[in-house]
Amino acid sequence: MSGLVDITGLKLLVMGGGAGIGLSAVRMATAAGAEVAVTTMPDETAAEQVAFHTPCDVTDASAVSAAVEAAVAALGGIDAAIVTAGIFEHRGVAETSDADWARVIAVNLTGPFHVARALEPHFRAAGAGSLVLFSSQVGLVGHRRATAYAASKGGINGLTRTLAIEFAAFGARVNAVAPGPVETGMTAVARADPVRRRALLEAVPLGRFGQPDEVACAALYLAAPASAFVTGHVLVIDGGVTAI
Ligand code: NAI
Repeated sequence: MSGLVDITGLKLLVMGGGAGIGLSAVRMATAAGAEVAVTTMPDETAAEQVAFHTPCDVTDASAVSAAVEAAVAALGGIDAAIVTAGIFEHRGVAETSDADWARVIAVNLTGPFHVARALEPHFRAAGAGSLVLFSSQVGLVGHRRATAYAASKGGINGLTRTLAIEFAAFGARVNAVAPGPVETGMTAVARADPVRRRALLEAVPLGRFGQPDEVACAALYLAAPASAFVTGHVLVIDGGVTAI
C-alpha cells in the first residue's frame, strides 16, 4: 500500500452529506473513485454520483440503524463513515432553553453515538473500519454564546477518544475533525453580520474563513488507509485559531 491518500474503491458512508462539509466530502470522494453512500435530512437531495442515498435524521436511533444497514447492503460492506450532521445555536447560558439544549445535544452528540453503535458490529466483524466524527474549535477552546454547542463538541472529543480504545480491540479506528469557521450554511448568519464577521476573522491568524473542501479532505484522510496508524485523534483544521 502506498502512503499516499488513495481512496479508490473505499466503501464510504457520509451521514449529513446534503450540504456544507459533508457535501464536499461526498463530491471529493466520488471524484477520487470511492463508492459512496450518503444520508441527508429528508428535505435535502444527494450529489448525483453516489451509489446509495437515504434520508436519515441522526437523532432517531432506529432510523440510523436502518440507514447504516441499508448502506452496508448497498455498498457490499463498509470501510469508513464520516458523520458531519450538526447544528449550531448562537445562545449563551441565560438564553438557552431546555429544548434548545436538548436539540443541540441530540443532533451533535447523541446522533454520532447512534452511528457508532450501529457501525460497531460491522467494523467488529470486518476487523477493520474508520469512523470520523465532527468536533469543532469550539470543542477545544471557549466561544462566546455557544453554550450547548460547545458542550456537544467537547463531548465529541471524549466520545472519539473512548471509542478509539474500544474499536482498537478489533482493528477499527475512530477520529474527529475540529474545524475553525468555515464558509457553509452553518456560518451564513454570522458571516452576514458585520460585527460577528469581524470577530470571527480576527480570531483566525490566516485571516479568512476555511472552505468546505479544505475540511473535507482532512476527513477523507482520516477515513482512508493512509491514516492507518492514527486513532483517538482530534485533527484541528482552523486557520490557526487554537494556536493563539
Ligand atoms: P451545514 O449546516 O452546511 O451542514 C450540516 C448538515 O447537517 C446539513 O446538511 C443538515 O441538514 C445536517 N443535519 C442537521 N441536523 C441533522 C439531523 N438531525 N440529522 C441528520 N443531518 C442533520 O454545516 P457544516 O459547516 O457543513 O457542518 C458540518 C459539521 O462541521 C457539523 O458537525 C458542524 O458542527 C461542524 N463544524 C462546522 C464549522 C463551520 O464553521 N461551518 C466549524 C466547526 C465545526
